[in-house]
Amino acid sequence: MGKGSGFGKVILFGEHFVVHGVPGIVSAIDSATDAEVTQTGKKLDIKDERKAAKGYAEEKRLQQIESIERMLKKMGLDPKLPLKIWVGGTLPGFSGLGASAASSVAIARAIAEELSLKLTNEQVNQIAYEAEKAYAGNPSGIDNTAATYGGLIWFKKNLAGGPSIVERLSVRKPVEIVIGSTGNVANTKAMVAGVAERKNKYPEKYSQIFKQAENLTYSGRKALESNDLKKVGELMNENHRLLQEIEVSSRELDLLVDIARKKCAFGAKLTGGGGGGCMVALTPGKELQEKVAVTIEKEGYEVLRTKIGVEKL
Ligand code: MEV
Repeated sequence: MGKGSGFGKVILFGEHFVVHGVPGIVSAIDSATDAEVTQTGKKLDIKDERKAAKGYAEEKRLQQIESIERMLKKMGLDPKLPLKIWVGGTLPGFSGLGASAASSVAIARAIAEELSLKLTNEQVNQIAYEAEKAYAGNPSGIDNTAATYGGLIWFKKNLAGGPSIVERLSVRKPVEIVIGSTGNVANTKAMVAGVAERKNKYPEKYSQIFKQAENLTYSGRKALESNDLKKVGELMNENHRLLQEIEVSSRELDLLVDIARKKCAFGAKLTGGGGGGCMVALTPGKELQEKVAVTIEKEGYEVLRTKIGVEKL
């Protein structure tokens, strides 16, 4: 049997914009997806035991099968290879936390181990990027990069198809965050396609918003590197506003963002593809983290208490 893992992630700045070449900042979180793979000689058999939002596994089923076929093809293997695959781990199947990319990285590593293939991280990342196409249509590559390498990462997609810019960032010390899940499963592929469509339809409006998003990610990097967490929070708020403008937020995401801000989170925004899924609140210190987390829980939503900027997970 082969085993593998991939990190979950939270995007601090730039989701959606990153698909179109704007830089983004992503942090891995201390929850991961694990996979085990055995060659059986029968048919593809997937057992998904991740804790997930209601309907997540069913909604993603076909995309999951397509992602595995894409991975096998990219590895030069028969896309219909009969494998028995188990998926589990501590990363919940909430949309927005990179669960699809984390599972692709975990499965790619487990397949490689089962078939005694030696893969570098770079190869795992490329294979998972191929798999991400099944879930996101036109992915930027930010999720699989975080899932493969972990840590805090500056990412800029190369729109010409060459290697993307990936730089490791560091913060003075890891910072507490709260992730709140709306419980709604989102279709990342549809969300990404919707943004592309509106960008084509309203080129002037969107080019202004995209310029603001780009400036914001650069400012976010500066604020993170100088440990100006108040500023990081303000910029996250601003990023949420831009995401509302490109129509990827939802009533519940806005509600969770509001609750977090009212409880004095330094900043809050949706994270990932939006349209449901999760929001992230910057809550430095255990006390603030707890205050925000408990309030969201009292409203009936699930939360994850974790940190950004952990070097080694
Ligand atoms: C999803 O976590 C992030 C998106 O920007 C898609 C992508 O970058 O592939 C919405």
